[in-house]
Amino acid sequence: MRFKSVLLITFFVGVTYGNDPRWKDCKDTFCARLRRHSTVPYSVDLGSLKIDEKTNKVLAILNPETKNGKKLMLTLSLLEEEIFHISIDQEQPSTPPRYKARDALIENGEKFNTAKPNITKGNATAYVKYKNLNVTIYANPMKFEFYDNNRLFSVVNPNNRFIFETDNENNQVAIGLDISFKDAQRAYGLPEHADHLALRNTSKEEPYRHFNLDYGSYEIESTQALYGAIGVLYAHGNNYSSGAFWLNAAQTWIDITNGPNQVDAYFMSESGVLDLFILPGPTLPHAVKQYTKLTGTAPLPQYFTLGYHQSRYSYMTQDEVVKVVTKFDENSFPIDVMWLDIDYTNEKRYFTWDPKRFSNPEKLISNLTETNRKLVAIIDPHIKVDDKYFVHQNATKEHYYIKNSAGKDFQGECWPGLSSYLDFLNPKAREYYSKLYLDHHFENKNVHVWNDMNEPSVFNRLKDENTMPLDALHYRGYKHRDVHNMYGFYQTIGTRTGMLQRKDKLRPFILTRSHFAGTQRYAAIWTGDNLARWDYLKISFPMCLTEALAGVSFCGADVGGFGEKPDDELYQRWYQAGAWLPFYRGHSANDVPRREPYLYGKDIQQRVRAALRQRYAHLPIWYTLFYEHEQTGEPVIRPITYHYPKESEAFDVENQVLVGRNILAAPVLEKGVTKYKVYLPGGDNEIWYNIDENYTPYHGNGSHLLTVNNDSVPVFYKAGSIIPRKDTPRPTSVHMHQDPYTLYIVLNAKREAEGKLYVDDGGSLSYQQKKFYYGNFVYKNYSLTVVNLRNDTSYSDVAPIGNLVIINPPNGIKGVQKTENNTIIELSNVYSSKYNVLFVNNFTAQFQNGLEIKFITLPSSVSSLTLSGTLIAVLFSVVYNM
Ligand code: NOJ
Repeated sequence: MRFKSVLLITFFVGVTYGNDPRWKDCKDTFCARLRRHSTVPYSVDLGSLKIDEKTNKVLAILNPETKNGKKLMLTLSLLEEEIFHISIDQEQPSTPPRYKARDALIENGEKFNTAKPNITKGNATAYVKYKNLNVTIYANPMKFEFYDNNRLFSVVNPNNRFIFETDNENNQVAIGLDISFKDAQRAYGLPEHADHLALRNTSKEEPYRHFNLDYGSYEIESTQALYGAIGVLYAHGNNYSSGAFWLNAAQTWIDITNGPNQVDAYFMSESGVLDLFILPGPTLPHAVKQYTKLTGTAPLPQYFTLGYHQSRYSYMTQDEVVKVVTKFDENSFPIDVMWLDIDYTNEKRYFTWDPKRFSNPEKLISNLTETNRKLVAIIDPHIKVDDKYFVHQNATKEHYYIKNSAGKDFQGECWPGLSSYLDFLNPKAREYYSKLYLDHHFENKNVHVWNDMNEPSVFNRLKDENTMPLDALHYRGYKHRDVHNMYGFYQTIGTRTGMLQRKDKLRPFILTRSHFAGTQRYAAIWTGDNLARWDYLKISFPMCLTEALAGVSFCGADVGGFGEKPDDELYQRWYQAGAWLPFYRGHSANDVPRREPYLYGKDIQQRVRAALRQRYAHLPIWYTLFYEHEQTGEPVIRPITYHYPKESEAFDVENQVLVGRNILAAPVLEKGVTKYKVYLPGGDNEIWYNIDENYTPYHGNGSHLLTVNNDSVPVFYKAGSIIPRKDTPRPTSVHMHQDPYTLYIVLNAKREAEGKLYVDDGGSLSYQQKKFYYGNFVYKNYSLTVVNLRNDTSYSDVAPIGNLVIINPPNGIKGVQKTENNTIIELSNVYSSKYNVLFVNNFTAQFQNGLEIKFITLPSSVSSLTLSGTLIAVLFSVVYNM
């Protein structure tokens, strides 16, 4: 398995980094010591157990059972009425104190409310009771049982594998802990790995590894480390789901054992304190939302960020960038954002522009903004060692760099050659760095940022897997080993802080490669250097679904694959599929042929155009879901099992996504198929309408084999939902702002449907001052109305409804009437008996202050037509324009 990865990377050498690190296995690191450890057992000193009245925390000393062991301090609390927090640290802190990764939490975790416990102590046990949630503490062997309404759902240290090393001299300061989860059939979470949604049993394999690495053309179906590390694990089952969040910034390995009705995990971290949160669920959505209560949600992105992004390593001149956009326009491909990879800089000095090829950044930006496009430019964390470069001068003078173990500024190789690395953990360095975004053309409101290589990547350091040496020194004397997985996270804090201070207060967009728990508050992510192969397309779905469960909904993969050349079929399939992941960007390496869609043959162009247009048509719903994510923590995309846990067959369905609750997208991810298997959940009474087959209904009774061709993109709307769309093709999302909505009203057996819509100005922060509209369309009793869900907000610029597409309409509709200002207006409508769809077209209905559209079954003066065949085809094309 490892050998394969080395081969891959050797093959890929042209694109990446000139050497092939040997990625470490468990046996090469502290993991070996812990995995086979003989425990240093600790026992809970029940005599010392007490409640800190001020903080409501339960405190107790843990006594070592060996002579040389150090005493530890245990803290237990219940946060926000529903999340257990266990923290264990040395009773006597070391210097510096062991690192706590608390910046990952909202407001460093200091503002969570804590519930007051009741404690009953026995001889060997203590009972800590909250309202419905209780913990039983066993003194020796130490063990913690977690109960929800007297139901045991999780046990911490069930097999007494807890370890807490304290030998600072020998760098043996690792920690380990086992946790078991009851009533669970699957384990999910722990991104980032290029693996399946359901985690594998690692007892005979490598554990899942968290150690952020620049691992280009990575191995797939693998537990190997990738660019991100999020320690949230969900144990999911038909009847119960719970979870745990292991908060540690150091290298971490996790063994998973998945029994028939129990999940066991063993977490091992190289240093730091033990910081563990137990998420009681009792369902997967509950556990996910509990996790986002701790680490936050993504702030609503600007509308344009949900459109299509075009990137390339690299567009080499400013004229080329503009030309690409012109070509997109000439060929009617919508696009919102152009990207600049490293070559726009003056020899990889970030915050500078190449004097010849990008001689006039201002002009470039204004050329783009004239057509409503935005620019994203890359800024990496390494800084060229060059005495004449102002960032290097300042960082050197002010001691903003990470130091080597000898206390000198660390120097290593990256894109610019010899480089030093800003120490983003240092608040002063971060502040300096954030200010760089207020100048150098980054102050422009239409420029956004890509933070790459921030694991951090350091070339030619095979021994350290091409990252920073573990003994490099950070702010306050922390070793790189202690904070490694948070380095990129801190960079994005700096970036966002700077961008928020720009004159035009627009929502910043940041894409980051390295990520950690809480990254969603600052940036979107993508799955890094994938390859133009079918299995990489396929794995991008479980990868992004896993990220979404771990709080990071804004995720996508390089469309087309970064390295290698996709064949035509893969290329078009990737566009079709990428439209159904939240972040939609075409990107490719510098040694593969150019592949903008207009370079392809007519058929392929047509399919890519259809995919892009389908994405743009659904922007209102993507945006609504992002708004709801910010408010509730609900992921934007969800695995099927998220809403259908009773269906065991859905546990492993990972190549299709629920976009919200109502859209199920199952794009074809396989080569050369004419039949494609799709899983539709919900049972016989749930009906899913395939919008790709003129609304053919399917029952939600499991797998269906669809007939597909190259144009097919199976996407289903759930009966009972209303999907607001904007179907008029436009060059950008900005052009669509005032376009009327087309409501797709999918009636269920009761002839009812509903669906939400969120609208604001699409870019400013004024939505935080209640300048938005959020409503729920309801179809019931032959009438379409809207309920304003937020009467305390205002936003005056909501586009009207212009068309209705009613799928499975009631029989015998004779007329459609809109009531506005007490006047009744008849709307023309056309029924297709062939497709069982009623079209109500080309009207204008404002709905901000209410809406009433009635469907009349009695004879009326309005002409109604029953059409079929070609006329319907024309109508379809008018409605979709695709
Ligand atoms: C690595 C990134 O993963 C890739 O997307 C980018 O093109 C190169 N760095 C060059 O910046």
